[in-house]
Amino acid sequence: MIMLKLQKVTKSFNVGTVNEKCVLKQINLELNDGDFVTVIGGNGAGKSTMLNMIAGVYPMDSGIITLDGENVSLYPEYKRAQLIGRVFQDPMMGTAADMQIIENLAIAKRRGKKRTLHWGVTKGEKDEYYNAVKELGLGLEERLTSKVGLLSGGQRQALTLLMATLNKPKLLLLDEHTAALDPATSAKVLKLTQQIIEREHLTALMVTHNMKDAIDVGNRLIMMYDGHIIYDVRGEEKRNLTVADLLKKFEEASGEEFVNDRMLLG
Ligand SMILES: Nc1ncnc2c1ncn2[C@@H]1O[C@H](COP(=O)(O)OP(=O)(O)OP(=O)(O)O)[C@@H](O)[C@H]1O
Ligand SMILES: [Mg+2]
Repeated sequence: MIMLKLQKVTKSFNVGTVNEKCVLKQINLELNDGDFVTVIGGNGAGKSTMLNMIAGVYPMDSGIITLDGENVSLYPEYKRAQLIGRVFQDPMMGTAADMQIIENLAIAKRRGKKRTLHWGVTKGEKDEYYNAVKELGLGLEERLTSKVGLLSGGQRQALTLLMATLNKPKLLLLDEHTAALDPATSAKVLKLTQQIIEREHLTALMVTHNMKDAIDVGNRLIMMYDGHIIYDVRGEEKRNLTVADLLKKFEEASGEEFVNDRMLLG
């Protein structure tokens, strides 16, 4: 079953100015239910823009986006947020620092639902959150009433991941969500990501600047260059890839050297 379909998705920025730039050029992409796709590419290739188009952050110039058979092309961002979970690079973005862990979870749980008079957290919900947080393996379940602002970056990303997947989204979008973390924490959050995606059988797109992670994680890998998907590989062929193979593929397709600042920094 196809979960996500992009048909000729096109996006330009600064149209009609000297800075006009076509960033996504008739992108076609189909994700099966349960596909976990890693996305790599150089600076400015269009990776974040593709995720932003799917999430409805900006309107497309043209094209069609279908999610689980539903044409969402004209849905505003908040409406797509009921169907799509997202985690960004910045650990500060996904959670509310001034609120407790449990309050953040309750808000995530109610996202897109009609508000009821019973805004308080029920005992049943409390147990659900306790168990979900416990499964992160970070000991946060005993700190459910702590303010999120007191958590480390890695703990916050883990919590954001949990919040993004609490209502089992049809699609999970991860944009370099481990890039701001130190290597050990990054590995931990990546592991959690894999566990949650597998356990919940989620369909996911994960942008990463780390080619090794892109090879090791997920069942499919796509490479973007200059607004195009230039390489799409899955299954055993993906598992057998090396970083050297990826760099070679990139150079063949682009005629350029692979440059990604975050890769160089990481
Ligand atoms: N809101 C915007 N307004 C104008 N230009 C934009 C906007 N968002 C992105 N761009 C431009 O679109 C191009 C693609 O950007 P995008 O963020 O999608 O790249 P990326 O592949 O995610 O790169 P990186 O690895 O650096 O994160 C870049 O040239 C960028 O400057
Ligand atoms: Mg980006």
